[in-house]
Amino acid sequence: MAKSHSRRRRVLAISGSLLLVTVLAVVAVRAAAGPTQAGGVPLRDLAAERGIRIGAAANPYLLEREPDYRALLAEQYGSMTAENVMKWDSLQPERGVYDFSTADVLTAFADEHDQQMRGHTVLWHNQNPEWLDQGEFGPEELRSIMRDHIDTVVGEHFAGRVYAWDVINEPFRDGSGELRPNLWLNTLGRGYIAEALHMAHEADPDARLYINDFNIEGRNPKSDALYDLAESLLEEGAPLHGIGFQGHFHAGGVPEDMAENMRRFTDLGLEVTVTELDVSIKMPASAEELRTQARDYRAVVENCLEVGGCTGVTVWGIGDADSWIPSWFPGRGAALPFDEDYAPKPAYGSLQEALGG
Ligand code: G3I
Repeated sequence: MAKSHSRRRRVLAISGSLLLVTVLAVVAVRAAAGPTQAGGVPLRDLAAERGIRIGAAANPYLLEREPDYRALLAEQYGSMTAENVMKWDSLQPERGVYDFSTADVLTAFADEHDQQMRGHTVLWHNQNPEWLDQGEFGPEELRSIMRDHIDTVVGEHFAGRVYAWDVINEPFRDGSGELRPNLWLNTLGRGYIAEALHMAHEADPDARLYINDFNIEGRNPKSDALYDLAESLLEEGAPLHGIGFQGHFHAGGVPEDMAENMRRFTDLGLEVTVTELDVSIKMPASAEELRTQARDYRAVVENCLEVGGCTGVTVWGIGDADSWIPSWFPGRGAALPFDEDYAPKPAYGSLQEALGG
């Protein structure tokens, strides 16, 4: 049993300046709101009419600095995911010391703009603080660290404000059906997944709890292994509610069997969501590649609409300059529906069309 320990929790207060900046940002967006910044009916309204959500990953630093970023986020997207600031290194940088200041910039913005908030992410192999990664904790201590984090983050702080959590992020090795060795698997064994789901459900019984991964959009050994895992978790009564298909594609790379693959998960009684969509292009992007990209965006939304049980699509950023792609894949970029100046690209038009606009 997890040994009890005294909680030396020092929740850092939201700084007054961050709050002030957020309030000013909200006022500015409201003041600037014309019919639309990008043209046409906003994606979020079209999506709502089709019964799905369209969202974007957001970054509080850009939210503070870039008026166009704020305007597009508020106007076009009805849901928001924290691109980085709900990861463990942001929320619990030192053991027992929680810092919600940057994450709360996003939740405040989401509240103001009637956006739903996806939580990303609880257990992952990346962006963990050094104290956790290097701690060499035994199973009992690690389990109690995990429970404290989940109780504090999913329960005490965000319950009621975050409707869904990527509880388990990227649990499989890429290109294979093996579980990925990580801190959690290495110390707690494969039961870490069910344990985390149970803890998250106890912390917030209303939150939708997800496993989220990449390169699982089509049928392949990795998505087959995820299917088997999901099925066995459900059989053993674990509170798993959904599968997140990240959707990081190269232009032209959306698998043809994506809808069929998602449907086998919804046939298990799960919901599915495209959680991190982007479509990268080898730079410089030609007009033809931008058209291919637009077709890819359309195909993904159409796949989601085709599968009853697909709750929506989240794109991984707002404009091309903000995307993670160029720094991780030098030579590739232009991955999002808005360009480096936040002007709409063909992909934006095809998202509108796919949603019936
Ligand atoms: O915060 C530090 C900053 O203090 C430092 O000065 C700066 C210098 O490089 O780095 C900053 O950290 C960066 C962080 O993003 C926040 O901006 C990291 O270097 C950078 O590696 C990190 O990249 C993020 C990546 O996850 C990390 O794995 C991307 O922004 C983020 O888009 C990406 O998101 C992931 C999803 O969470 C899971 N699925 C894949 C997806 C794409 O990799």
